[in-house]
Amino acid sequence: MARTDPHSCFDDLQPRASRWHLRLLVDFESRILAGEVTLVFPRPASGVLDLDSKGLTIHRAWVSATGAGLPFELGPEEPILGRRLRLTLPADTHGVTIAYETSPDAAGLQWLEPAQTEGGRQPFLFSQCQAIHARSLVPCQDSAVARVGYDADVVVPEGLRAVMSAGPMGDEPGPMPGTRVFHFRMPQPIPSYLLALAVGDLESRELSPRSRVWAEPATVERAAWEFAGVETMIGAAEQLFGPYDWERFDMLVLPPSFPYGGMENPRMTFLTPTLLAGDRSLVDVVAHELAHSWTGNLVTNATAEHFWLNEGFTVWAERRILRELHGEEACAAAWAIGQNALDESLERFRAEPELTLLRTRLEGIDPDEAFSSIPYEKGARLVAVLEQAVGEAAFQDLLRAYMGRFRFTSITTEQFCAFVEERFPGLLRRVDADSWLHQPGMPGNAPVFRSGRLDRLTALARGWERGERPDAGQVEDWSPGELLVYLQNLPRALPLDDCAWLDRKLGLTARGNHELLVEWLCIAAASGYAPAFGRIREVLARVGRMKYLRPLYAALGRHADTRRLAREVFVAAAPGYHSLSRRAVLAELEKYPD
Ligand code: BES
Ligand code: ZN
Repeated sequence: MARTDPHSCFDDLQPRASRWHLRLLVDFESRILAGEVTLVFPRPASGVLDLDSKGLTIHRAWVSATGAGLPFELGPEEPILGRRLRLTLPADTHGVTIAYETSPDAAGLQWLEPAQTEGGRQPFLFSQCQAIHARSLVPCQDSAVARVGYDADVVVPEGLRAVMSAGPMGDEPGPMPGTRVFHFRMPQPIPSYLLALAVGDLESRELSPRSRVWAEPATVERAAWEFAGVETMIGAAEQLFGPYDWERFDMLVLPPSFPYGGMENPRMTFLTPTLLAGDRSLVDVVAHELAHSWTGNLVTNATAEHFWLNEGFTVWAERRILRELHGEEACAAAWAIGQNALDESLERFRAEPELTLLRTRLEGIDPDEAFSSIPYEKGARLVAVLEQAVGEAAFQDLLRAYMGRFRFTSITTEQFCAFVEERFPGLLRRVDADSWLHQPGMPGNAPVFRSGRLDRLTALARGWERGERPDAGQVEDWSPGELLVYLQNLPRALPLDDCAWLDRKLGLTARGNHELLVEWLCIAAASGYAPAFGRIREVLARVGRMKYLRPLYAALGRHADTRRLAREVFVAAAPGYHSLSRRAVLAELEKYPD
């Protein structure tokens, strides 16, 4: 073989680093991480070594043991991939060190002004490396197959704290006055996209002997309350997959510009503060990130072309955990909400059916552009079909064996299939796995998850135009998930009187649960319902989660006056958005007529 990943220069015929030693100085003034990385080889190495880099300034490279300088060559800038950094190692090299700095607009980092935080007094920095942004933080073999452990020393301004996707190893006064250095160690080999760092005014609360939550002081109590049940979740996940292997499951609640709901950084899951609904109704995202500790972090997709292996299994697992904790009805509602997201993604990719396969071909395609609910929801349905075909108990055994066979490795769809074929000859053919993996859209044997309750409230929503309305007692009885299913099945735009009725009856504009709030605000936006505009502005100005920005801006695009509102809000909010969110919104704005 040679190159194995369409998004990386990683070449499996070249030496492969097994550990990184990172020494980083976090400079909020210049918005730069400056420092050194040592790439350690498990065996004496020599010859050409190609690394990925994006936006990095490379100062120097040398043989770690001797200090002998190494020539390096930076290739041309490629729009998605960045620049190849080529080193040539002399015989018997055990490690190379590279002195470098990041760019102030590094794709994998967001630098926040104090005003963009809850406390308003200290700046904040966080990383988001998946899928291919680790190379904007560190020159490295930025492919999930090239797993590494790491140690890091991170120097930050005094008064701030650093956390990483690694075990904390203490902190002490830093090398310069007014600084502090934090030490970290990740002993297990992880894919580069799981490198994570955040720096800010952070406090923590203990949730269980192996879990605590970190957040800004103003948020940490609410976070501790919201996620108090995490240990029960870890227990449920262990029942499914076997022992939790990462020692600690800590969580960090980020400022609201965090572009995702959650990110499964090992030992330190990153979470959006929009999960703090005040009623624990959005903890399924925690179940999801926790489940990645097995599906994703232990057994990892080899490249973004096999992303469904991470997300499909994790969505399936998240719903099994939910069923354990909250019962069948909650689980059915989650599948229904997922179906809605799946239908939207299939619609969005109508002109690009190749992106609706589970096993994708992404040469020349930015993984951030290919991102959708398809690997999640189509993937989870394939897992469910496999489970239904062999039965729950046998499937549980299969999963345990899968984890055992592939733990701490990064695998392809083809390796997964070979494993299933070996354990259950003929099973893949029986469920028509070929269609699931290699054909666009949904196969004929896609499972449907239904319940009497969901059928009734879906029918009620679909009867809106015929004048059907829920009565007060009914609404009281719905869980937040069920209410969301109801809203998702209403017409996408309503007469103004209907908006007013809905809002009054269901108290929607004042909701703290952002899933419900944003679903409602999309209807309000598309309906031109002015009483909700203030709340729409508030959400768009504060929240950077792409899942919410995309549909809200899209709904505002439906009419000329709300389009104006969208453009005006975007101009004001864009400087505070993460670069991913900014790009996602710009793509929506481009779709607007005129
Ligand atoms: N790993 C993903 C987030 C991600 C995927 C970041 C690809 C960058 C590239 C994470 O586990 C995730 O799926 N988050 C979801 C949570 C949801 C499915 C419960 C999100 O952010 O909405
Ligand atoms: Zn996920």
